[in-house]
Formats: sequence, C-alpha cells, structure tokens
Amino acid sequence: MLIKTIKPSDIKECQVTDEKVYLNRRQLLKGMGFIGAGTLLSQSASAAPLDFWGNDKKGTFKQTELLYRKGADIGETLTPEAKVTSHNNFYEFGLNKSDPAENAQGLKVNPWQLKVSGEVDNPITLEYDDLFNKFDLEERIYRLRCVEAWSMVVPWIGFSLADVIKQAKPNSKAKYVAFETLYDPEQMPGQRSRRIGGGIDYPYVEGLRLDEAMNPLTLLSVGLYGKTLPPQNGAPVRLVVPWKYGFKSIKSIVSIKLVERMPPTTWNILAPNEYGFYANVNPDVDHPRWSQASERRITTGGLFARNRIPTLPFNGYGEEVAHMYKNMDLKRFY
Ligand code: MTE
Repeated sequence: MLIKTIKPSDIKECQVTDEKVYLNRRQLLKGMGFIGAGTLLSQSASAAPLDFWGNDKKGTFKQTELLYRKGADIGETLTPEAKVTSHNNFYEFGLNKSDPAENAQGLKVNPWQLKVSGEVDNPITLEYDDLFNKFDLEERIYRLRCVEAWSMVVPWIGFSLADVIKQAKPNSKAKYVAFETLYDPEQMPGQRSRRIGGGIDYPYVEGLRLDEAMNPLTLLSVGLYGKTLPPQNGAPVRLVVPWKYGFKSIKSIVSIKLVERMPPTTWNILAPNEYGFYANVNPDVDHPRWSQASERRITTGGLFARNRIPTLPFNGYGEEVAHMYKNMDLKRFY
C-alpha cells in the first residue's frame, strides 16, 4: 500500500516509501542488518563509509533504491552523493567548499563520546557504538538550505533528537539546548589557524529552543546515502534541522547540554546583524548582503543543471513547524 497523503513539504522516508517496504527494512535494521553493522563499525578508527543496508547482503539494497526513486516521484531530485560529500561547509577544515573533503579524511571518530548533560535528571554519555544501536534509525530525505542561497536534497540516516532528550529527562529549568563540536586543534587545522578557520572562536557552538529540539523533524544524523557519515559531513554524529539555515546543523557533536538561557551560537557571535539565533529559512527576510528569495538547487554537475528555484518559507516545512513561531515577528527574530 502506498501512503497517499504525501505533501510536497513532507518527504520523510516513511511517507515516500511503500509502508511494507519501510517496516520491513526497519525490522531488518533492528534484526541483523544494523546491529551487525554497529559491531563492524566499531572496528574502524576513522569514518570509513560502511553500508547500513549491507550491499553485500542480497535483497536489502533494492529497497533503498526504491526509496530513492519515490523521493524523485514527489518532485524532488536527490542531490547526487558525490556532490553531497564534496561541496561542504566545515570551517574547522578550511573555507573552500572542497577543503573538508580534502582535509577531514583523517578525523578519528571512534572512540567518540557524545555527552548529554545540564538541566537533566539523567545525564547520558553515548559511546560510538551507542550512536548506531541505542535509538531507532530512520532514513529521512530532507532539503538542506544553506544561508549562502544554495540547497541540496539529502537522504540522511539518523534518529530523533527528541528520543535522546527524553531519555536524559530534562528538568523544569531546561528551556534551550546547546550543542558543541569537537575541539581538537591537532586534528582540525581551522582551529589552529584563524586564516584557515575563518576567524571563528572554536569550538563551533549552536543552539535550539527546547520545543524546536523536540520537534519530530529534528534529526541527529549518523549517515547519508545508506552509509555512515563521511568526516566532511560531520561524522560520526551531526544535527539536521531542515527548516533552518544549514549553519544550525552543527557537525561532529560532542556535547548536548540542556540550559536555562538562550545559548551563544557561532555565527551570531561572529556577525549578529547577519545571523540570528533562529535562522528559520525565510524568503521574505534577506541577508543584509544578498537576497534569500531564491536559491540554487544543486542537482547534477554542470552549469545547466544548477537550477534556481524560489525559496520556501521554513524551507517547505511550515506545516510541521510554523506553529512554534506563531506569535513571533520573524523579521525581528531572524
Ligand atoms: N558545523 C561545524 N562544526 N562547522 C561548520 O563550519 N558549517 C555549517 C553546518 N555545520 C559548519 C557546521 C554550514 S554553514 C552548513 S551549510 C552545513 O554544516 C553544511 O553541511 P554539509 O557540508 O553536510 O552540506
């Protein structure tokens, strides 16, 4: 049975895939495909890509293929994997789009610890294997809209941030969530040199309001295109907040802290008049130096395939998220 209520705004896997296929694959992930992979993953010291669906296990890859085609059926062409993994922003590894893919390959992602702390009754430390075994993994096809006015469509793999936060049991003081990227200047040349790292005071930090963090769309991603995240995309775990500009989607996270007050965020510290805390995708609020009314969708390579399309409010996810901002002046709280 095909789920019929597909809205263009909603391109989560469970809504674009035949339900039976989806459930099958989840069982498969839980049963063998995935639990096995967690053990395998722990053997590699760096972020060597590994198939989630197990290409070597016959019968599983086809389901993934089906999903990708369904994504295309509803009018969104996936950005090719080669583009998703070579056109990156990860200033810890340099400022050019090709720098992260060139400079991040040695990033050690295992062992890794992600701490969930702060205003919680049950602080958690997730080890590398926990990232793949402790929570229900889903594949979600999301648009990613960078504040620089380019965008992609990416099939992420991950789990709801809400699941992690619920496990940590926030107390009544918790109002915001603060995120932090790994600080390791030995591994990250941009943290050693202000020239390479764009003058940012590292570690890179980001934040969400608690209700934004608990929104079902907010994803902690551990993979893309059926494989573990490559280092340049934020291995081993990064945030994906599809209705906000890409800079909110912080990479290679080591700390998630529940806090009482709005936490500082890297781009807002650097240029507060250009980058706000909220950073909701909004075609009606221009960046002071360029328009946000349209964007360049990165599809296939080549000049003619670089489509310019209108930008959608909340990046097309308004139905799911606009209610969180209903009494707010979005021009003021950009
Ligand atoms: N996270 C860290 N730690 N450092 C960064 O420079 N860049 C952000 C975000 N997360 C960034 C980061 C920006 S500006 C964007 S658009 C996205 O990552 C890009 O994600 P991608 O490279 O996977 O497309």
